[in-house]
Amino acid sequence: MKPQSRCSRTVFLVRFLVLSGGFAGAPLPAQNIFTDDFSAGASPLWSNTRGNWVVANGSYTAQQPSNNPLTFSGLPFQLKDFVLSVDINDVADGGIWLRCTPDAQNGVLLVTGGAGFIGSNFVRYLLEAHPDYRVIVLDKLTYAGNLDNLKDLVGNPRYTFRQGDICDIALVDEIMRAHAIDTIVNFAAESHVDRSLMEPGAFIQTDVYGTYVLLEAAKKYGVERYHQVSTDEVYGEVLEGRSQETDRLHTRSPYSASKAGADLMCLAYYTSFNVPVTITRGSNNIGPYQYPEKVVPLFITNAIDDLPLPLYGDGSQMRDYQYVLDHCAGIDVVLHRGQPGEIYNLGTGEETSNLTMARLILKLLGKPESLIQRVTDRPGHDRRYALDCSKVQQLGWRSQHTFDQAIEKTVRWYVDNEWWWRKIKTGAHYREYYARQYGDRLQS
Ligand SMILES: NC(=O)c1ccc[n+]([C@@H]2O[C@H](COP(=O)([O-])OP(=O)(O)OC[C@H]3O[C@@H](n4cnc5c(N)ncnc54)[C@H](O)[C@@H]3O)[C@@H](O)[C@H]2O)c1
Repeated sequence: MKPQSRCSRTVFLVRFLVLSGGFAGAPLPAQNIFTDDFSAGASPLWSNTRGNWVVANGSYTAQQPSNNPLTFSGLPFQLKDFVLSVDINDVADGGIWLRCTPDAQNGVLLVTGGAGFIGSNFVRYLLEAHPDYRVIVLDKLTYAGNLDNLKDLVGNPRYTFRQGDICDIALVDEIMRAHAIDTIVNFAAESHVDRSLMEPGAFIQTDVYGTYVLLEAAKKYGVERYHQVSTDEVYGEVLEGRSQETDRLHTRSPYSASKAGADLMCLAYYTSFNVPVTITRGSNNIGPYQYPEKVVPLFITNAIDDLPLPLYGDGSQMRDYQYVLDHCAGIDVVLHRGQPGEIYNLGTGEETSNLTMARLILKLLGKPESLIQRVTDRPGHDRRYALDCSKVQQLGWRSQHTFDQAIEKTVRWYVDNEWWWRKIKTGAHYREYYARQYGDRLQS
């Protein structure tokens, strides 16, 4: 990752012996290198947190491909892992030192949970915004993870997908090493409050323990940034005023409690181990690729099918719905301009009740309000969240969509992309959840 405040990165020295004489700037002739001196075979020549160089068949090849392999003419030597600018100098001790500076333009990000709703939007956003970055997605592909969300990226040389669990220490370690990760952005989570009431253990496992595993990897490999994607729900319901980053946490569901636990663990790793952590606490997101059991896509897709919109309680719960790409842009800003150890709220400042949201969806789709069906509220349903976002605004970020614009774009996307949601909603997993969550409620 390229922090905007810094222009170059650590300089690594790799020592190559030469047979004779020094030279400057010219491509290295093959005969000037003692390949034997790199302890023959495939044993690692040099490894650090950014790459694991191996000697194989007389050539030197880093483990990961990149767009710009450098080939030294006459030498079976390719720099494939990341772009290096190479200066040849300091002939000494009968050897020569190559000063290899990883190109400051290059970043290799591990995006966990990148096959989910926000994660997949973020991956796409990042690859477009930073043409020099590479992204490795690690995702367990739970019910919420979906490779269709990343379908358009298949074949992109800057994108790699790895299926797996963030709680798997060995797997995370292998990925850090193999891909020379310099930045971790953690979206992976069990993220649905309703499900957290059914199976809290899964939330503690992924959201808290999984975060710990990633923080350990961040510490071990000395990443440039570990970013935790958190939520406004950690502040609990806020009946008056707006939550600031320094406010006490007041969680009321197993979901928000596990997210709060993860936030506190991140801050502990910053204080105790100097891991350069940042945290964003975002408000509710809406937009493309949101799993259709979450309220906005649930209402849109039910309305398209003329099915009831199950509205919890009186629908007066107030939410700050932000367009997902605004949230992604905010995370990007914090990644590059945010200060380690700091938390940043990300929201619009606009508030909408769930009832208003439901009515607007029906209006946009030309459907009757009679589709709204009030159902028994869920326990501990927070009545209002509201964020003070002045801190992140000082970094230059502001949400670009009003609620009306965001919901209109979102409705349009679900209308245009039935291929995406129809197969989820007709699947056994979704139907089982829907019956469990709303079956009795819709009967009564
Ligand atoms: N959706 C929102 O409105 C919102 C708002 C603020 C913050 N957040 C946070 O943003 C993050 C992403 O939310 P989302 O709505 O995209 O969630 P999502 O449920 O759509 O996606 C979560 C992804 O994480 C993956 N995952 C789950 N457990 C995993 C594990 N153990 N290992 C690897 N991958 C795993 C899933 O397969 C899925 O792809 C979450 O951390 C959530 O708390 C969400």
